[in-house]
Amino acid sequence: MDPESLLFSIFSPAGREDPYHALAELRRIEPVHHSKTLDTYCLTRFTDCQSVLTDPRFLAPDLDWCERELPDWREHPAADFFYSSMLRSNGSVHGRLRRLVAGAFSARRVTALRARVEEITTGLLDRFADATAAGGVADFPELVGYPLPVAVIGELIGVPPADQARFHRLGQDASRLLEPVRTAEDWHGADRAVLALREYLTVLLRERRLRPADDLTSALLAASDAEDLPLTEAELTDTLLLTFVAGFETTTAMLGLTVFALLSHPEQLELVRAQPQLAGAAVEESLRWDTPVQMTERVAAEPVEVGGTRIPQGANVTTVLAAANRDPRRHPDPDSFTVRRPDTRVLSFSAGPHYCLGAALARIEGVALVGQLLSRFPRLALARPPVRRASISLRSLKELALLTNG
Ligand code: HEM
Repeated sequence: MDPESLLFSIFSPAGREDPYHALAELRRIEPVHHSKTLDTYCLTRFTDCQSVLTDPRFLAPDLDWCERELPDWREHPAADFFYSSMLRSNGSVHGRLRRLVAGAFSARRVTALRARVEEITTGLLDRFADATAAGGVADFPELVGYPLPVAVIGELIGVPPADQARFHRLGQDASRLLEPVRTAEDWHGADRAVLALREYLTVLLRERRLRPADDLTSALLAASDAEDLPLTEAELTDTLLLTFVAGFETTTAMLGLTVFALLSHPEQLELVRAQPQLAGAAVEESLRWDTPVQMTERVAAEPVEVGGTRIPQGANVTTVLAAANRDPRRHPDPDSFTVRRPDTRVLSFSAGPHYCLGAALARIEGVALVGQLLSRFPRLALARPPVRRASISLRSLKELALLTNG
């Protein structure tokens, strides 16, 4: 197959199941591939992806990019939110937002959440146990994969449990923004969700201004107020909104993919069950083997040579993180799922200035889940093959039917 057909094959139903053979072949024949159809340079080598993500000459597609590529962006509140957010801003605008959130998202706050993550996981697995008692089949994403990150981010931001189901639904619609291709329906849903979530978060910010609590919202307000130039109301709202949108479907995806990876490699699952201290390594290997965020985009601010190919100024670049993680020059025997793999280094959380702010929290959730799931359910099994979600960037399981008396 030619490089363009290989690239397009990963978006077919079969390619969604397994994009890795096509990506390996693309890496072999044209590791820096210019897709005329997608108008982007696709990178599939670990070192090329890493160097682009950490090189200040490559920018995240921001409002300037939006102006060129999405001229009607002003009609979409979701585009206004997304392309002015930390994830899609650059330079000092990004630095200011990131510094304030990183300060509020401190290691102390994340570590303090660890015990709550374990508790929330236990509660959700109690429900999962009830649903699968007496040979019942339960859908893992519905009972655990979605509610766990929603409850954890809810707790982090300060959204009370009673509001979390609504937050979940709106968050799902807003998360379509993370996809590189959006339909008119995606935009419509995302616009509505962004407006509703902005309204909700504006009220939350107002409440926390009056009565600060021990949460990210109050910490962000305090950090912003201490600045010479505090964040505007809109910046505060959208920053909380981004934290939610960036951290919820991605974590759901990771939890489902990790459980599936372990169940489809029984000898690795038994190894982790016998040595629970390997739960962290299992999550890391799963992030490498089947990463939730398959790709992310950058734009060249000036001409730059990458992997021997000259990328012109203004060109779009797609770092295919899923391919980078399986580059044999970085991880030997990359297609095998090996929990004890030495020196695993993933690009699943990106790299450089936009490195995921929630990586530590996501890992804590993964470790809590793997630890408790394997110790509580010795007969955990797949009820049928999982169903993948039809998305381009996010690799996620829409359905993962499990038995605990298999
Ligand atoms: C397994 C779960 C997760 C994955 C795979 C993931 C992945 C990513 C990736 C790939 C990026 C950077 C995208 C780019 O470079 O263009 C990112 C950024 C970000 N993530 Fe995560 N994420 C996860 C969980 C979380 C969680 C739990 C939170 C928060 C509670 C979070 C908050 C953020 C934020 C705020 C950014 C923007 C950072 C910046 O632009 O400076 N993420 N994430």
